[in-house]
Parts: sequence; structure tokens; C-alpha cells
Amino acid sequence: MTQFQDILASAAHRVANPNPVVAIVGATGAVGVELMTCLAARNFPLGRLKLLASARSAGKVMDFAGQPVVVEELTEASFEGVDIALFSAGATISRKFAPVAVRAGALVVDNSSAFRMASDVPLVVPEVNAGAMQAHHGVIANPNCVAAIATVALAPLHRAHAIRRLNIATYQAASGAGAAAMEELRVSTQAAINGEAFAPKVLPHPYAFNIFSHNAAIDPATGYNDEELKVVAETRRIMDLPELPVSITCIRVPVLRAHAMAITVEFADVVSEEEARALLAAAPGLRLVDDRAANHFPMPCEASGQDDVLVGRIRRDLGDPSGRSLALFVAGDQLLKGAALNAVQIAETLLAPVA
Ligand code: A2P
Repeated sequence: MTQFQDILASAAHRVANPNPVVAIVGATGAVGVELMTCLAARNFPLGRLKLLASARSAGKVMDFAGQPVVVEELTEASFEGVDIALFSAGATISRKFAPVAVRAGALVVDNSSAFRMASDVPLVVPEVNAGAMQAHHGVIANPNCVAAIATVALAPLHRAHAIRRLNIATYQAASGAGAAAMEELRVSTQAAINGEAFAPKVLPHPYAFNIFSHNAAIDPATGYNDEELKVVAETRRIMDLPELPVSITCIRVPVLRAHAMAITVEFADVVSEEEARALLAAAPGLRLVDDRAANHFPMPCEASGQDDVLVGRIRRDLGDPSGRSLALFVAGDQLLKGAALNAVQIAETLLAPVA
């Protein structure tokens, strides 16, 4: 038995309480705040909302749909009576407290990387592999933001024509590094405009008017960073293509909250631009932005605050004369489809169907 099978040998797959008590772990963080916004915007049938963060934030009052909610310190006793726990406080906190939450009877949706590759924890993007949720043992993992956004765009194509290879270059926003990185982008940009010196504190390099290789830890032997390795492993797992060859380069760009990515997709057979456009236009969770005449394609500023992932610049890959490859450009809100929205969609799927 693996970790969570042991805790919850006969897992109840759905949440029995029609008005569940929901806890947000990491409520004061960039994703935590968006979790609240998503729950309110989607009229999630909440019984009660519990906001959990570190001792530093205990007592802080946050607004949920116009109501004040007091933040509590996360402790071992925090999950009594909780039906669903949405975790977004980093992998260390998830590793320590997700088993505690499951033992207390909560279903955990975990936004960290702690369990994403665990065999007893489904890794889910509802538009792509909702069925994988059936196999949960109390924890469902919410993917890396790039993997979540990319697979929403890739799955409808793969259902029609088998994908054989991917080449991905990302343009990633500050929000992926948390609320403090977003603030560093704002403050350092203001400093640069004012001609003032600024020493980076959260990110390793100057962020204003600059781009740099993703700040995740880098493996000196291969030259790949953890973000790139996560995107490859998770994309393969979500799409159930364990051997899929993926080329990848992840870059931080000075954008606040939406990731963009250029993806070249090689298929098993020839796929026309027209068919790809029609498949993507009809798929859930996607909006086609593909106006050549106006030179209007997906942009982070238009993806920010949007539930839908934007996809466009659909064109033949000039690097593959066989005609089996297409190039796409994708932009999605890192805090929404890349994190909070996907987690809330998973939680919605876990609710008992309304009789
Ligand atoms: P706090 O604000 O009290 O530090 P972000 O990803 O935007 O940096 O947010 C991280 C979230 O994780 C915050 O809500 C933060 O709470 C929370 N967090 C960090 N460390 C702990 C901890 N030791 N216990 C509980 N929550 C934590």
C-alpha cells in the first residue's frame, strides 16, 4: 500500500455533505485569495469556510463574498469537521498536513508538487482526465500551472490525432513564484522607472524590463530546472502518454499573473490548420484568439482574470516538411486555470450529484 491507500483504504469518492465545510490552507497567499474568489464566483455550495495560514497571519480578517472571515493558524487540529481541504501553502506544508487532513476525514485537493507523481494520487485537469479522479484515496493533486494550461489546449487535438512529440517554450508570470514575487515585480518596475537601485529579494535576478531562465533549482548535470522537469513529467501523466518526447525551456517574464507558451506539436498524421482550429474552438475551457488580419493572438493581458485558456497562432510548422506538425501560442491565467480554478473545478466534481 502507498501513503494514502493506507490512510483511507475504502475511500469515499465523493463528499457526502451537500454543503461542505471547506478549508483553504495558505489562504493569505496569491493562490489562496484566488481560491476564495473562485468559490464565491462559482456559487460553490459552502457550508462554512475556514481560512488557514501561518501563525504570522492568525487573526487577520479577510473578505469572502462581502463577509469577514478570520484567518486561523494551521495546526494538527485544524481539520476537525472539514469536508474539503484546498492546500496551497507549498510542498513542505502539504507533506506534513495533507495526511492529517485525510485522517480527519477531509478530501484534499493539493496545489503543491508534493504528491503529483504519487501513484495513489490522481493528477487532474477536469477537461482532460476527470476520470482519473475515480481512483483517489483522499488526495487529488492539482498540476503545475504550465502543465494544466498546456494540456487544456493539447487534449482536444490529441483526442482526434495522436500527438507524437512536443516542443514547448514558456513565458511565465511572477504569480507562479507567489504573492511576494508579484510585489517584487511591481516595486522593482517602479524603482527602474524612477531610476533608483533595487536589490532583488524574492527572485534571483532583476525582474523589471528583463527575462531570465526559470528560478527553480537547476540540475548542473543536465542543465534542466525543476520547473521544466515537472512540466514534462506532469504533461505525460495528465495525458496518459508516459513516453511522450517533450523539448522544453521555461523562462520568467515580467508579467504579473498569466503564463504564455509557444508549443510545436507533432502528430502521427497530417492535421490541417482548419481542423485544429475547429477542434480547439469547440473544446471546453478554451477560447480561440486567432485573428491574422488584426495580428491578434493570445496575450497575458487578455488571459489575466479569465477562466478560459486562450489559444491561437495556429499554423504549420515550417521546421517539419512532412506536414504533421503545427505551431500554437497559448496564454492562461496562472492563478486561475493554472491553480485555483482547476482546484475548485476538482472540488465541484467531488460533490454529490444534486438529487
Ligand atoms: P502566511 O501569509 O501566513 O505566511 P504565496 O504562495 O503567495 O507565497 O503564499 C503562501 C501561503 O502559504 C500563504 O498563505 C502563507 O501564509 C502560507 N504559509 C507559509 N508557511 C506556512 C506555515 N508554516 N503554516 C501555514 N501556512 C503557511
